[in-house]
Amino acid sequence: MRIDSIVAQSAGSPDSSPDSFSPNTSNTLSSTASLPIPDALLTLIRKEVRSQQPYIVPGARPVPVKLNQNESPFDVPEPLKKDLLDAFFQMDFNRYPAEQPTRLMEALEKQFHLPSGSVIVGNGSNELTYTLGMCFIHPGDPVILPRPMFALYESMVNLHGGLAVGIAPRADLHFDVEAILDAIDQHQPPLVIVTTPNNPTGLAMDFADVEKIVQRSPGFVVIDEAYHEFHASQSALSLLDKHPNVIVLRTMSKAFGLAGLRLGYMIAQPALITEIMKSRLPFMIDRLSEHVALRLIDHSDMVHSQINTILENTAVLTKELQSRPQVVVLPSQTNFVLFKADRDPSALLNDLADNGILVRNMGGYPELKGYLRVTSGTSVENKAFLEALDKVLLV
Ligand SMILES: Cc1ncc(COP(=O)(O)O)c(C=O)c1O
Repeated sequence: MRIDSIVAQSAGSPDSSPDSFSPNTSNTLSSTASLPIPDALLTLIRKEVRSQQPYIVPGARPVPVKLNQNESPFDVPEPLKKDLLDAFFQMDFNRYPAEQPTRLMEALEKQFHLPSGSVIVGNGSNELTYTLGMCFIHPGDPVILPRPMFALYESMVNLHGGLAVGIAPRADLHFDVEAILDAIDQHQPPLVIVTTPNNPTGLAMDFADVEKIVQRSPGFVVIDEAYHEFHASQSALSLLDKHPNVIVLRTMSKAFGLAGLRLGYMIAQPALITEIMKSRLPFMIDRLSEHVALRLIDHSDMVHSQINTILENTAVLTKELQSRPQVVVLPSQTNFVLFKADRDPSALLNDLADNGILVRNMGGYPELKGYLRVTSGTSVENKAFLEALDKVLLV
């Protein structure tokens, strides 16, 4: 039957759908003014949720040089992007994707020589951290979080009713491994989380220390390797076949330049992945994201050459910052650099933004008062940042 004959048949029948959407006033609000929510209702919201602060990236004003979110400066090249969009055009928008993106999961397993069933793909690795909370945290459970660590972990632990046990860093801002081991002995936590290389410091852990933590832990150890591709000599993936408590988190937002498509993944023993999968929402990955990720895995030469350029640019950026006497710089094993200058960081950030450069103030971490974080961009962007910095430091 032709479509127009279906429309003709149904037109006029009492339950027929309108040919086009016209506003149905009984389904719209009578006023655009917002209604306050009474306290009696607000108190029904879980206290763990109400006590959270919303996650907001500060200072997100449009500027020509955006170096505030550790993104890759390289977008997918235009011909490949067009090709991907053509492929997307052929896909059915009206059909659900597979519950889990099995082709991508299998491609990742193949790439890392993992047994089948070792991978979960998430809507960014951020989303997978919530899956970890759903799966492992009972109310009141201690979770060891060395500091300073990517802030989302602490809010995830609090949100799930856990007790975040922060471990102060050493004076050089590296994680204090001895203190982490002592805390594991004391609290016997179901979950320990480490990030290596770490955001916000840019520092990587000694691999032997990661293994010590894994061996000492009675529970699971999550090793977030969001920046692994910038410090690829060792990975906790090599611990997987000795230690069933290891969970590795990675992302395609940084080295693969796909922050806008939201793709992260988790790797663990298949029997553990089977359990974690039960706390997942289905259909988290759309067809386009899966397709793009698969194509970029096929274009690994291009991605590797971008990573090498980012590493070279970061090394130059670090050296340049180190050469300025009024600037203190941390060595970076990532695509960003943590630094402080002899000026108030908020004023410095604003002055840089006035000069078209956006960086991030890290002063929200008590250990990082005075520090700013600059993502390494293209060599042109990094040069523009350094020129602006010189200009504003002379003020
Ligand atoms: C340590 C760390 N883990 C995870 C993420 C989030 O990655 P995604 O974009 O995959 O959610 C970030 C992002 O900045 C990060 O720094």
